[in-house]
Amino acid sequence: MTSALERYRLDGRVALVTGGGGLLGRHFARTLAEAGAAVGVLDIRADAAARVAQEIEAQGGRALALVADITDPQQAHDAVHQLVRTFGRLDILVNSAALDPKVSAEGEVRTASAFEDFPLETWRQALDVNLTGTFLITQAAARVMREQNYGVIINLGSTYGLVGPDQRIYQKPGQPPQYKPVYYTVTKAAMLGFTRYLATYYAGTGIRVNTLVPGGVYNHQDPEFVAKYAQRTVMGRMAQAEEIAAALLFLASDASSYMTGAHLVVDGGWTAW
Ligand SMILES: NC(=O)c1ccc[n+]([C@@H]2O[C@H](COP(=O)([O-])OP(=O)(O)OC[C@H]3O[C@@H](n4cnc5c(N)ncnc54)[C@H](O)[C@@H]3O)[C@@H](O)[C@H]2O)c1
Repeated sequence: MTSALERYRLDGRVALVTGGGGLLGRHFARTLAEAGAAVGVLDIRADAAARVAQEIEAQGGRALALVADITDPQQAHDAVHQLVRTFGRLDILVNSAALDPKVSAEGEVRTASAFEDFPLETWRQALDVNLTGTFLITQAAARVMREQNYGVIINLGSTYGLVGPDQRIYQKPGQPPQYKPVYYTVTKAAMLGFTRYLATYYAGTGIRVNTLVPGGVYNHQDPEFVAKYAQRTVMGRMAQAEEIAAALLFLASDASSYMTGAHLVVDGGWTAW
């Protein structure tokens, strides 16, 4: 019998992390590699993908930087095939790439327009990356997983896909109002539906699909924002990226072998009250 700890090992497995050059994506890729997986670090930003792949190799892991725009069907297909050619299979897909505007050190949010004036172009761009891009890369990966009759897919949701953002924490006295954008909640809520669709679609196969639902991760944001965010959580603080990556490892490994079509909330209690 395999011990509980051994179930977290990923030796011999191959993972693909989209948005692998991002704040959480980097930690996801490094954690999967630490558990023994060979990891494809996919990002539209070549430098970010290369940096993370190098970090993994410097730690003695196996990684491949993949530069692709997931909204392009051919690039999504080619990235998956480059990974499979290099490492022989594809067991784990982490759909982390997304347009996710962050609060800066000065407290600014990009694409912060009021709903009534929200630009159609920005809405379309976000749906293209967060929904269509995720659809395309998952389609390419699922073709390989189907042939193997094995695969684990993890979609990234957000607390803001479960509940609406508390827009009060994004306001700064004396400055124009700014908002977490509408597309964020819409596309992150959609990940729950995408997960349930795929999980039931692959019933009877060896493919499992779940959503990881993180709360806000500390990234040197404006201290005033951090304090307001922290106050909204039960734990009284933002998440560390490593705490989200640990939950990702649970979902990616056989530790979660009886879990599909579900979501795992790691939000410091934000949605508990
Ligand atoms: N950071 C948080 O606080 C937080 C909280 C809850 C949920 N999430 C979710 O977790 C996931 C990862 O978040 P993050 O903090 O790493 O985000 P991030 O913005 O730091 O990284 C996203 C990455 O995706 C890449 N990307 C964007 N468009 C792409 C495209 N078309 N093709 C390929 N790559 C593309 C970007 O270059 C970037 O490296 C996201 O889905 C996000 O919505 C994040």
